[in-house]
Amino acid sequence: MKQEEITALLDDMSLEEKIGQLVQLSGEFFSANDISIGPIQKLGIDKKMVELAGSALNVVGAKETHDVQVRQMQKQPHHIPMLFMSDVIYGYKTILPIPLGLGASWDLEKVGEAFTNAADEASAAGNHVAFAPMVDVARDARWGRVLESPGEDPYLNSKFAEAMVKGLQKNLKEKQGQIACVKHFAAYGAVEGGKEYNSVDLSISNLYQNYLPPYKAAIEAGSNMVMTSLTTLNGVPVTASKELINDLLREKWGFNGVVISDYASIYELIKHGFATDETQAGKAALNAGVDIDMKSPCYSNGLKDLVSNGQLDEVKIDKAVLRILNLKNKMGLFEDPFYGASEIREKSSILTDSKRKLACQLAEESIVLLKNKDNVLPLSKEQKIALIGPYSNKNTLIGMWAIHGDPQDTVTISEGIKKYVPDLHVCKGTDLQRNREFLKGLGYLNEEGINKVVSSEEVELKNNYEAVEAAKKADVVLLALGEDTYEDGEAGSKTNLHLPKNQRHLIEQIAKVGKKIILILINGRPLVLSDIEDKVDAIVEAWFPGTEGGNAIANVLFGNYNPSGRLTMDFPYASGEEPLYYNHLSTGRPATNSQHIGRFVSKYIDCSGGALYPFGYGLSYSDIKYESIELSSSQITPKSRLEITVNLINESHWTTTETVQLYIHDEVASIAQPVKRLVDFQKVELKPNQRKKITFCLKPNKLLFYDNEGKEKIEPGYFDIMVGPNSRDVITKKIEYIE
Ligand code: NOJ
Repeated sequence: MKQEEITALLDDMSLEEKIGQLVQLSGEFFSANDISIGPIQKLGIDKKMVELAGSALNVVGAKETHDVQVRQMQKQPHHIPMLFMSDVIYGYKTILPIPLGLGASWDLEKVGEAFTNAADEASAAGNHVAFAPMVDVARDARWGRVLESPGEDPYLNSKFAEAMVKGLQKNLKEKQGQIACVKHFAAYGAVEGGKEYNSVDLSISNLYQNYLPPYKAAIEAGSNMVMTSLTTLNGVPVTASKELINDLLREKWGFNGVVISDYASIYELIKHGFATDETQAGKAALNAGVDIDMKSPCYSNGLKDLVSNGQLDEVKIDKAVLRILNLKNKMGLFEDPFYGASEIREKSSILTDSKRKLACQLAEESIVLLKNKDNVLPLSKEQKIALIGPYSNKNTLIGMWAIHGDPQDTVTISEGIKKYVPDLHVCKGTDLQRNREFLKGLGYLNEEGINKVVSSEEVELKNNYEAVEAAKKADVVLLALGEDTYEDGEAGSKTNLHLPKNQRHLIEQIAKVGKKIILILINGRPLVLSDIEDKVDAIVEAWFPGTEGGNAIANVLFGNYNPSGRLTMDFPYASGEEPLYYNHLSTGRPATNSQHIGRFVSKYIDCSGGALYPFGYGLSYSDIKYESIELSSSQITPKSRLEITVNLINESHWTTTETVQLYIHDEVASIAQPVKRLVDFQKVELKPNQRKKITFCLKPNKLLFYDNEGKEKIEPGYFDIMVGPNSRDVITKKIEYIE
């Protein structure tokens, strides 16, 4: 449609119709047998308003979306097509590794391509908007949603935000893309204590420097939608923050797309103690700049009265509706309300060989080799191998937020390994989790369900016994352990980051047998491994690796893929260290280089502190030496550039991919600066015994920081330039910035 036609349409719409466009409801409201009563009564939304709703949440499938679209359009006076939005967070049917694993690949290009694949599958199934990317900076491993984020670093998350947005939206014109909806704006990742839905309190400089950059990068990459956070930020619920949505996002950053609340977050303004009732909650959100009310009754029930009693200017509603109509028009929905979706396309586009191949490559790249004592890995096919542990045969490798994925499509670890060793001995060893109270807390199992996943004492003893016997007969034991799917993701916060007691007990029993042990971890967050690390010979962090998980793990174990993944969150020694992140401030009494000695430094008295495995860390089968770094100058000015050359040598017979990381530290500034922060990186391939020079070009804008008014600053003085294979083992040189 032409813009004049959109404007004319808006002029012709009744107030109710306009409000309908601002309402998003979930599938049950639009079910095949017309509108079901339960949820409508629960939300208290009038039948008329359901008919006028402008978008649907998590309705998927070419047939389903087609039928709902036809019915809804018939009912609406202007037959406006609906937008179908959904949580396509790391794949639709072909599930990729969880984003924390994608982060560990540091492979922006492939992640972008994989998001293009996800959008292709989802759009073929009638879905228009992906509620992705989730790029909340995640510094606290207690928070279950770290699974959904690329990690703890603002720079890396920004690069992933850009790649993911571009990937999703790449083929919009061809009707094979999806609109990106970056979330959760802003700073959801900083919830106090890592506790889900908790409050966020941040200094302005911290907010601007560490939390806002990824959202900004997504907007700059063209994200057409933004989702607000469920939390407060400095006392104000983000969903009602005019300062954040209207003033910062729209006016300062120039975002002119659609802002959607998170699920019921407008209604929750009442619970936050910010609004007296649904109507006032709706008014606050609309005034702040939220266009769509996801799954709450506030807009549908309150906005009309607010307009009629003069509390709300209809112009504000018009502006929101126009943004939504423009988005529908951008997708060509007025001409083709089904956006090219069809059952035929759906069948032919999901889980294709090429999509599986890319998912496998990314799963390989996401795997982080944390330990490899005496080069116990890679394995040889000639070894006698036993695969033991609750994840050996499980197909639940796709993680909590792969809500459209089917575990049945997943390659299990045993299936992957059997391609190398067909007569592999496999046994369960123990349950994934035996603590019934804990399982209850996950909130998805009733008593009967728990009985199914927790074996009787007798069976558990038998499983343990079988595992020990299998270990005795093997040369090498592969132990596949980890977290339950529902220990991670939304509402998966926890205080204890250890593996469960029964799994640790299994490790101890197997360790006593005295064979080589390779620990394969399936999990969605950094774990505490300090108590088990010395009992095993190798640790392969595989995350929830997705549909192709089993193949990728096997390829790494047998050296068909030389591991290259690098952590994007610190792994702590103890849960009590959280939030733990590499780019922290120095404090006046740093533990390592304070002028004080002994007790009075910044540390814990019962833990060595820092990370067992730091940000950026990961081993490969090769041996890469960082020989030296050279700088083109010892000074940098506003107009100059600094070239940093790194000399690497591969002292092995393996071809390898090395992730060379560049960090800086501003020695003295008017706002204390982190001990180091990532400003650039390069993934480089080195052939056996190859020497290579890598050059980074540092522009002065990399040296800027934010003050407590959110303003950018660079101050003259000295900076450390650090290069290395991770955030701990760096070579440092000093430069001076002169104005
Ligand atoms: C709540 C979650 O916070 C958000 O990430 C998700 O997109 C919505 N629910 C919709 O499912």
